[in-house]
Amino acid sequence: MKYYHAYEDRYKKVHAERGKPWAGERPSTILKDLLVKYGATENSSILEVGCGEGQNALYLMKEGFSVDASDVSPEAISWCKKWANERGLNADKFFVMDACENDFQGEYDFIYSVAVLHMLVEDEDRHKFLTFIKNHLKENGHAFVVVMGDGKTSYRSGTKEAFDLADRPFEDSIIQVATTSCRKVTWEEFFAELKLAGFKVVNHYLDHSISGFDVSMVAELVRE
Ligand SMILES: C[S@@+](CC[C@H](N)C(=O)[O-])C[C@H]1O[C@@H](n2cnc3c(N)ncnc32)[C@H](O)[C@@H]1O
Repeated sequence: MKYYHAYEDRYKKVHAERGKPWAGERPSTILKDLLVKYGATENSSILEVGCGEGQNALYLMKEGFSVDASDVSPEAISWCKKWANERGLNADKFFVMDACENDFQGEYDFIYSVAVLHMLVEDEDRHKFLTFIKNHLKENGHAFVVVMGDGKTSYRSGTKEAFDLADRPFEDSIIQVATTSCRKVTWEEFFAELKLAGFKVVNHYLDHSISGFDVSMVAELVRE
């Protein structure tokens, strides 16, 4: 089992013990703005990679966008389907997929990912993840990659401890959940990875609106 499956354990624990989502339900406000900025309509095809418990995809669906949403965690996708059904949205739009290892077919007008790339520690996994997004983007498509970090800090956790339990704050208490993994990169390192995967950076900036993270790096991308 690769280290980046550790969120499965975290989701299972939180859902079983607390009956609530780990990430809450605070969709990012910038995704709709980005989609509108680049001309997305209800007819545009949109893919989310690493959707977690679905807060962003469900919000965008509610706003009328057609979003296919994927995550490597079966527990997360079960949660998304449950939430979609409860909200009268299409649960079939959610599916389990490892963005680094798959034979997925399909091309999209828009692909986005929020707070996933920082979980991928190994260079090879990061390259596979970014290449997946590039390869499934239509020629004139747009990708938005939002990643935890301040653009100045390089940090790399280990991978062996990803499944080890650690205390984490949850609402007003502490819960023991899988540590998971984390890698932060500087803007220069990020740009180099994006170039290697075949992207051109159209715009980049820091954002403070992504729930659960003090500061995130946003890259608006097209195929090179
Ligand atoms: C920090 S959570 C963010 C979830 C969601 N995007 C959000 O903003 O709430 C990271 C997510 O990335 C998923 N993930 C990690 N590696 C992945 C991979 N290789 N393919 C697809 N999803 C992955 C995890 O299962 C987890 O749901």
